[in-house]
Parts: sequence; structure tokens; C-alpha cells
Amino acid sequence: MILRTLADLRAQVAAWKRAGESVGVVPTMGALHQGHLSLVSAAKQACDRVIVTIFVNPRQFNSPEDLANYPRTEIEDARKLAPLAVDVVYVPDGAQMYPEGFATTVSVGGLTDVLCGANRPGHFDGVATVVTKLFTQTQADRAYFGEKDYQQVQVVTRLARDLDLPIAVVACPTIREEDGLAMSSRNLLLSDRARVYAPELHRAMKELAQGLIAGKDPTLLHMQAKARLDRAGFTKVEYLDLRACDDLSLLETPDRPARLLAAAWLAGVRLIDNIAVG
Ligand code: PAF
Repeated sequence: MILRTLADLRAQVAAWKRAGESVGVVPTMGALHQGHLSLVSAAKQACDRVIVTIFVNPRQFNSPEDLANYPRTEIEDARKLAPLAVDVVYVPDGAQMYPEGFATTVSVGGLTDVLCGANRPGHFDGVATVVTKLFTQTQADRAYFGEKDYQQVQVVTRLARDLDLPIAVVACPTIREEDGLAMSSRNLLLSDRARVYAPELHRAMKELAQGLIAGKDPTLLHMQAKARLDRAGFTKVEYLDLRACDDLSLLETPDRPARLLAAAWLAGVRLIDNIAVG
């Protein structure tokens, strides 16, 4: 069932809650791929009812061009969701989410100063604000996010904890194409040629991670990874950082649970990825 208004959503959720049913939510911006569908499967396994939300949130885009180019594939999305029999697909419009006079921003400090937060000013305020709204609108017990957006998962987990929202944030593993490219809605923007070279990001990261685990010189490893990306046609590496899993502080070597995170531009498309190290 597709619902477009908050009133309809609330009525449906209230009926489920009266019946004592648990609710899971999978927040998305559409352009659904196997990664999103894996979140839906995880939600279906743990919750009586599942809501998928589709809303291309203007507040998390720091460039109007990026917002305009973001893939919108509503009919395809509905076709992909059909076999999964989700209970509700919630597709609010801009006026529903941000009615006239809307003046509140949810902002998570610290964690958002680095990585995508540093490179996309305002991005995480937009994410935190819309996610808080989606959590309260759906009154879900559990929310499912992909680890591909590692920093986003940290931010959302932190805001749920800080604001005492009665929801469990569940992180699910990144789903990859056969050649290693992390699935992302933005992959649809890659030209055929760029698509061939895009998996080099994951390969360079794996090589760097293996070198770090083997105790090789981090500076040299970073230089080699950047040279590899350069050869593959990546025009800009925004970050290629080893960071602590818990607080995202920068590490030189993986001497505590660590994650290698990257954002890089290929033929005008910004790709991100992250892998566990050790
Ligand atoms: O990951 C996304 O698609 C978006 O950032 C989210 C969580 C749906 C919020 O708009």
C-alpha cells in the first residue's frame, strides 16, 4: 500500500500498535537497489510490519545540481518492492515533510565534523532532521540502515540515543556488485566507461587495508592507493582515512577496531565506500 500523507500513515501505524504489532522502517531516497532490498529483508525478519519510506530529501543536498541529478525511479522502485510485500511504502512530498514555516534543525555535533560532514556542509543536519521526522512519523521500533553510509549510521545511532527516541538503529552490511563496487543509487549516474573503473575504489581500499594489517608504512600505502585511483581516472579523493569505529577519530595504524573510509570523484560522480580493517 502506498501512503502519501502523514495522517494516513499515523492511522495505519496506530492500528498496528493497537494490535500489539512491532514496526520496522527502512528510510530511503528511492532509486532502490539490492542493498535497500537487503534492509527490507532484515526488517521483515524481525518486525511484524515494515514501512519503506521514499523521499529525496532536499535538505541533505549541499548542491542544487546534485539534487536535480539525483536518480528518481519511482515505477522501478515499486516493481522491485512488489515481491517483498512490504506493508506500507510511505512517499511524502516536500510540503508534507517541510510545511511552510518549518524552522527546526536536528544537528549532531562532533561526529559530523569529519569525512562527509567536512566535505558536504549541512549534509548531516539534513539527514538528522529528516531521519528524526521519519522516526517520529512512523513510530517504528526498529530502523534499518546500510553500512555503506558508515558515518550516517553513527550519526543516526547517536541522535536516537541523545533524543531518547524509542527505536533500535540496525546497521546492515554493504551489498556489493560482483566486481566489488558498493551498491549505491549514485552508481546509476556512472557512464559505461566510468562504471568499468569504479570498482578500483574498493580494490585500492582493500590493498591499503591489507598493507596496514601487515604493518607496512601507512604513508607509502596511502600514496600507492592514491596513485592507483589516479590511474583509474578518479579526479579527486576527498578522503581516504583510517578511523576508529567508535568515535571516528583519525588513526595511523589499526591499533583499535578501525574502518577505512573513502570518498572520491569519478567522471563527475561522488562515490563513497568503507571497509573494516583487522
Ligand atoms: O541514506 C539515505 O538514503 C538517506 O540519507 C536517508 C537515510 C534516507 C535520509 O534521507
